[in-house]
Amino acid sequence: METEKQSEVTEADLIPVYIMGKRYMVPPTLTIMKAMEYAGYKLVRGCGCRGGFCGACATAYRILGDPKLYFGLACQTVVQPNMYLAQIPFFPAQRATYDITKLEPTATTLFSIYPEVLRCLGCGACTKACPQEIDVRAYMAAGMKGDIATMADLSFDCIMCGLCAVRCPAEEAQYNIAILARRLYGRYLAPRSKHLEERLEEIEAGEFDVALAELKRLSREELVARYRARDIEPTEGPREEED
Ligand code: SF4
Ligand code: SF4
Ligand code: FES
Repeated sequence: METEKQSEVTEADLIPVYIMGKRYMVPPTLTIMKAMEYAGYKLVRGCGCRGGFCGACATAYRILGDPKLYFGLACQTVVQPNMYLAQIPFFPAQRATYDITKLEPTATTLFSIYPEVLRCLGCGACTKACPQEIDVRAYMAAGMKGDIATMADLSFDCIMCGLCAVRCPAEEAQYNIAILARRLYGRYLAPRSKHLEERLEEIEAGEFDVALAELKRLSREELVARYRARDIEPTEGPREEED
């Protein structure tokens, strides 16, 4: 289904892709998500931010003649000729309920909430599937050692798409275990910023109430003028122009 916007692409430029087994001719510059819409699919599931952040658009695909199974985010991966696509729906995975304020940041906590972390086989199928290029196997290995800080650090870019869990022979829910590590790290282990704590105390003491109330009364134009006129700390090197 061609739209006016895409009319600069000629018929000869189109490439074949297969969506849920059906063949469609689509422009080669589109992402998988846009190609699906071009083909007439209305995405009411498996589509969120369209910017590679929410993890809703996990997709598995094969290329004709290539036995390898590939994974990607539909909003970020550009189509290729003879791509066979399958959207992965939400993948059911073990997710524990806990109150982070009542936990201790220890290996025992991690193992008692997610004992399956110790089942990891170290096969690396998860790492191959991750569209964020996270070494999932490595963060799971850190988890097996109870190393919460390393698990949190290595999994920092996780967008919870679930593709690692789809591939796991040990039936791990890697991303749910890793987010527990990041929560424990963030709440209990991350170094505290003295400046931030001081500023929070000042805010709580009401030191900025008058200034904030004044800002809230300003119009958009007045706010923009204030923003442009703000003091900017001088930088040492050449500075790029602001938009
Ligand atoms: S670690 Fe797993 S859930 Fe997180 S982005 Fe990678 S594949 Fe997706
Ligand atoms: S796929 Fe599963 S078993 Fe294999 S390394 Fe990843 S978490 Fe471990
Ligand atoms: S739609 Fe959010 S990551 Fe693709």
